[in-house]
Amino acid sequence: MIFQQLFDQTSSTFTYVLASRVGGEALIIDPVFEHVDLYVGLLERLRLNLVKAVDTHIHADHITALGALRDITKCITVMGERSSADVVAMRARENETIDIEGLSLQTIYTPGHTDDSYTFSLNDRIFTGDTLLIRGTGRTDFQHGDAHAAYDSLFNKLLKLDDNILVYPGHDYNGNTVSTIGSERAENPRLQVSSANEYAEIMNSLKLPNPKMMDTAVPANRTIGKNQQRLIEAGCAATTEEILRESGGNCLFVDLREEGERNRDGHIPNDLHVSYQQLENALATDCRLSRELKNEETQVVLYCSFGERSALAVERAMEIGNKNVTHMIGGMGAWMRVGGSIAQH
Ligand SMILES: [Fe+2]
Repeated sequence: MIFQQLFDQTSSTFTYVLASRVGGEALIIDPVFEHVDLYVGLLERLRLNLVKAVDTHIHADHITALGALRDITKCITVMGERSSADVVAMRARENETIDIEGLSLQTIYTPGHTDDSYTFSLNDRIFTGDTLLIRGTGRTDFQHGDAHAAYDSLFNKLLKLDDNILVYPGHDYNGNTVSTIGSERAENPRLQVSSANEYAEIMNSLKLPNPKMMDTAVPANRTIGKNQQRLIEAGCAATTEEILRESGGNCLFVDLREEGERNRDGHIPNDLHVSYQQLENALATDCRLSRELKNEETQVVLYCSFGERSALAVERAMEIGNKNVTHMIGGMGAWMRVGGSIAQH
């Protein structure tokens, strides 16, 4: 496995790059905007194809690189389902997996530092964001933080894991890089409490100053959705209402989501399933999608969960000369809101 731990000096943030092999698919956790060039260089050196960029929560101390990495690498942005970001391509629920080639991260919902904090588990290690730090824990006094919820996430979820699980936090201010569950259980001063109330008393008496960048970082990190103006101006984007009205639903819908999302949320009846990750290959081969794109009689409508992947995919299809292709604004979320029909399996 390729595993890189990178550090932002300004905000003391750790970023993690994961891949199963040189030349394969990669995933990045908690990237920092100022270091996009560094990440892109690293990916190039290892010939990695970044397919997913994930944030553990909405950060208050730095600006996320999720949007910038999506625009450069065409990767999928991912957060937990409770995220208050306006748009991410995928939202993972508790106990779901975030998959790339050869690696599967499991999501654990760990609210407390914020109400949208998730921990990601990968085999022998966990990426805890600000929920559990080395010899510390994330503050609980803003962004819907809640010390009782944090206690529950720490004691009833993370500390239930095996002692030898490696802890990779979202920050460290003291030069540490990794710990273990056993070491934190024994030595972390915040965890030497006997009740949620005792923990809350400690957390509620910290009286910490707000992070310097909070007023700019939080709003910026909540508005990361892809700018779709170019597609709208080019006439290659349509709302669900327009699609239903103009085609009577009589077009070829292509679902770019992953199998798990289709099974979980259902799909548009009689659609074609080509996941976003398979798209490049599908466009380059003689398959139903590439044939229908060339058939001027067919209007091909690409859709996904919230409209991020379909916007990227339509741009790509147009780039290589396809014209009769439309991005469905808002994805399945919007489709469900207008009462579009849904098939299960
Ligand atoms: Fe945080």
